[in-house]
Amino acid sequence: MNIENPIIELRRVNKSFGAQRVLDDIDLRVERGRTTVIIGRSGTGKSVLLKHIVGLLKPDRGEVYYEGRRIDALTERQLTPVRRQISFVFQLNALFDSMTVGENVAFPMTENSESRPDRARIRELTQRSLKIVGLSSFENKRPSELSGGEKKRVALARAITMDPPPKVILYDEPTAGLDPQRSDVINKLIRSLQDEFHVTGIVVTHDMKLAIDVGDRVLMLHQGRFIADSPPAELAQDRNEIVRNFVAGIADESELATLVR
Ligand SMILES: Nc1ncnc2c1ncn2[C@@H]1O[C@H](COP(=O)(O)OP(=O)(O)O)[C@@H](O)[C@H]1O
Ligand SMILES: [Mg+2]
Repeated sequence: MNIENPIIELRRVNKSFGAQRVLDDIDLRVERGRTTVIIGRSGTGKSVLLKHIVGLLKPDRGEVYYEGRRIDALTERQLTPVRRQISFVFQLNALFDSMTVGENVAFPMTENSESRPDRARIRELTQRSLKIVGLSSFENKRPSELSGGEKKRVALARAITMDPPPKVILYDEPTAGLDPQRSDVINKLIRSLQDEFHVTGIVVTHDMKLAIDVGDRVLMLHQGRFIADSPPAELAQDRNEIVRNFVAGIADESELATLVR
């Protein structure tokens, strides 16, 4: 797909852990204001890829750009302004059990003393975020009192509690472990965030319903490379059988061959 002026770009990114090559010359141009979905089997490197975008992992070879600026060689300190624009919703919600929901949501603003808004503003932004995810009355609860779906929503609220709001949100398996109706809530939230903040989204998932509902573009990562790149509606007819089987949830012949009969 030809994308002019991408907000994020990966150029020939390679990443191995020991002898295991996880990303094999990955190129990716992410379109501004859209939602790009990356699907793929568990353990293919989806989370590893996302971590390269915020500098949590560095490529062995290749380059990562944000707004046209190369970021893979930056120090932690130099990355700070980039991380103020990109929000990461981690695979595990990573809420602090010792804090209330409100404190968790306010955390990204209170963490950094240089740019900390005043208390009234923090409260206002926290309330706004909780309202967007439908948890206004949960401010004083603890994460341990919440269901899985509610925790995900708190994690989403935290991801948008930045002043100014994030330009990019990276979602790592946002519906993992949720039942279909709870997943649909997250699904609709992701779309409303895109509408409300014109945010650029990158969603990593193996939830095909989510991929099709929120994605403007879906790529499939397989053995270190992208083997599909298309609008969601065209995925089911992809020319590659591995892609079609993944989308339909059908095991490949090679996997079935390993079963004892
Ligand atoms: N920090 C790390 N050290 C060593 N191996 C890692 C590390 N992070 C991920 N891996 C390995 O890289 C592969 C891809 O992991 P990951 O990106 O988490 O997969 P997924 O597509 O399920 O998100 C896995 O085999 C995983 O064990
Ligand atoms: Mg993962």
